[in-house]
Amino acid sequence: MPNDHDVSAFRRDFPLYANLDRPLHYLDNAATAQMHQSAFDAMRRHDTQARGNVLRGNHRLAEAATEAYENARAGVARYLNATTVEEIVFTSGTTAAINLVAGAMGYLLRPGDEIVVSLAEHHSNFLPWQRLQEQGVVLRVLPLTSEGRIDMSLLPAIVGGRCRLIALSHASNVTGAITDLVPVIAAARAVGARVLLDGAQYVQHGRPDMQALGADFYVFSGHKCFGPTGVGVLWGRREALAELPPFMVGGGMVGRVALRESTWAEPPRRFEAGTPPIAQAVGLGAVLDWLVGQPWEQLRSHEEHLFERLLAGLRNIPGVRLLGPADRRERLPVVSFNLGELHPHDVCQVLDERHVALRGGHHCAQPLMEFFGVAATVRASLAAYNDVADVDALLAGLEHARQVLA
Ligand code: ALA
Repeated sequence: MPNDHDVSAFRRDFPLYANLDRPLHYLDNAATAQMHQSAFDAMRRHDTQARGNVLRGNHRLAEAATEAYENARAGVARYLNATTVEEIVFTSGTTAAINLVAGAMGYLLRPGDEIVVSLAEHHSNFLPWQRLQEQGVVLRVLPLTSEGRIDMSLLPAIVGGRCRLIALSHASNVTGAITDLVPVIAAARAVGARVLLDGAQYVQHGRPDMQALGADFYVFSGHKCFGPTGVGVLWGRREALAELPPFMVGGGMVGRVALRESTWAEPPRRFEAGTPPIAQAVGLGAVLDWLVGQPWEQLRSHEEHLFERLLAGLRNIPGVRLLGPADRRERLPVVSFNLGELHPHDVCQVLDERHVALRGGHHCAQPLMEFFGVAATVRASLAAYNDVADVDALLAGLEHARQVLA
């Protein structure tokens, strides 16, 4: 191995690996990553010692719950290098966070205003914007290069004076391609548009820095970065959040409610109507505290080594068609491919029998599938707890699938 990352030691803190009753080569990390011990511990501690509702109670448990919830918010802010904790909104996940921004912006947009997305977006970062067409908003779509990267040369033609927001993935869930953000931010600034980044895939492999990226909104899910399901984050630059009206209304997000008219709390509470996912937020806060202390360069170089081995092995299998950028330095360790004419679901099933977990399908990115001229692909996605045995089991399994399914 080219670095000192000790996979067995790293795996010890992922309870799933301690409870296996059969071998497992888990390579579906882009769908969901396994949960780290710190999240289990924090959620258990919370639900057994401090379970109460937040921001509305007058007893010790409610106060303890509020403190834990707000500490988690502070943990997220630290992880993201946000300017203030008020920039952190808890949601139920990436999809909810994007719908929140789209729904809230929808109140402000006028017919003819434009939203820019790309052809490579996950449906979660496409449909909420597409829906705004119903009120006269124009959806403009950035095309892709032949490798499936967003074609930045077309930014000046697509981002015009009516553009209000550019919404792009930080990295693709299908190809792992990392978006080149510098021209995107510049194009948005030139016309006074906001930028939203879907960080769902990125957060598992790196630590996004809100003060360095230059975006206005950043969204991600807890379960993709070794945390719990059911919780996610919307980071919004203070002034970007301040100008948005609420999307969901209800308890906990008001200033004053009267019969005819009501006022709203300041962000972040304005966007957290109802009882939030309290224990999950506490679990996410714990896992992000753990992630802050990780040796990222070591983890990255471990993943890159595995990814190189995986790509080289895939290229050696007759009939494999790889999708996405050829240069692995522009990608997260996520790869989509097809094996001849074999259906991805059949390939995944044969691999599952050999204990290799993959995803096969359109990956909630049908416009991208159409661009590549396929209905579906097989996808393998690596995380820092994967090892050479996982990669080799996939490669051997694909050779086996080729023989049994041909
Ligand atoms: N968004 C997740 C994926 O790409 C579910 O698999």
